[in-house]
Amino acid sequence: DVGQEAGIEPLIGVIGGSGLYNIDGLEDRVWRRVATPWGEPSDELLFGRLRGVRCVFLPRHGRGHPIPPSELNFRANIDALKRSGVTDIISLSAVGSLRDDLPPGSFVLVDQFIDRSFARQKSFFTTGCVAHVPMADPTCPRLGEVILRQAELLDITMRKGGTYLVMEGPQFSTRAESELYREWGCSVIGMTNMPEAKLAREAEMDYASVAMVTDFDCWHEGHDSVTVDAVVEVMQRNSERARNLIRAVIPALGGVRPPCPAGCDRALEHAIITAPEA
Ligand code: ADE
Repeated sequence: DVGQEAGIEPLIGVIGGSGLYNIDGLEDRVWRRVATPWGEPSDELLFGRLRGVRCVFLPRHGRGHPIPPSELNFRANIDALKRSGVTDIISLSAVGSLRDDLPPGSFVLVDQFIDRSFARQKSFFTTGCVAHVPMADPTCPRLGEVILRQAELLDITMRKGGTYLVMEGPQFSTRAESELYREWGCSVIGMTNMPEAKLAREAEMDYASVAMVTDFDCWHEGHDSVTVDAVVEVMQRNSERARNLIRAVIPALGGVRPPCPAGCDRALEHAIITAPEA
């Protein structure tokens, strides 16, 4: 508690999506295996510093992208970051666009999710201890402000806010599904931010998500279907800007930070329902 009042020194964790398997310019870099009770994370974690500020990087699908979305061990990934001392997570991912005004190449600072994934372990609280953490506001506004500011300084256009529909995959959506998600008011669609955001909340870590648009999904006239080739081409262009963004955001998050204004870092305070003696 004393630590919280005084603020803590953050450790920034970055989860890199498709096309982002590394952070360049990292000082004192070392890849380290981190064991967890939930099994193996997607890869070793890359530890280092950017302008003196410590950070940890995890390639979500493993280096070279060997792990599909439904096979990701989300609990091991979040737990490995937590046990490495990570306090704040910046999640980067490639997504499809569900809006005309978010063409390929757009970046969105996501602030809401609709979780349509179903074949994944979604909680750390599965046996013995039951907890229901709040998820009304799944992302951290303080992290978001820093990301937006750095994007602006780098001339990276970033939409503030948007709803990310998480689908199970690995197949892309049917046209009817794509149209439905548009009617629901979603901005982007991807396969990986859930249960990542839920588990980060259970682990009391601040979470921010930058979604990088690679395609118009299949609803858009003139884009009959999504293809991996098209996704990969735009992804490579996006990932250079993402790397620049990360190189700027991590140093900007250095120094002592106050408790999260939205309570991300104390989500379990009123969440555990199991009696202490149970
Ligand atoms: N990732 C990149 N583009 C996507 C799309 N159209 N649907 C789901 N996930 C994606």
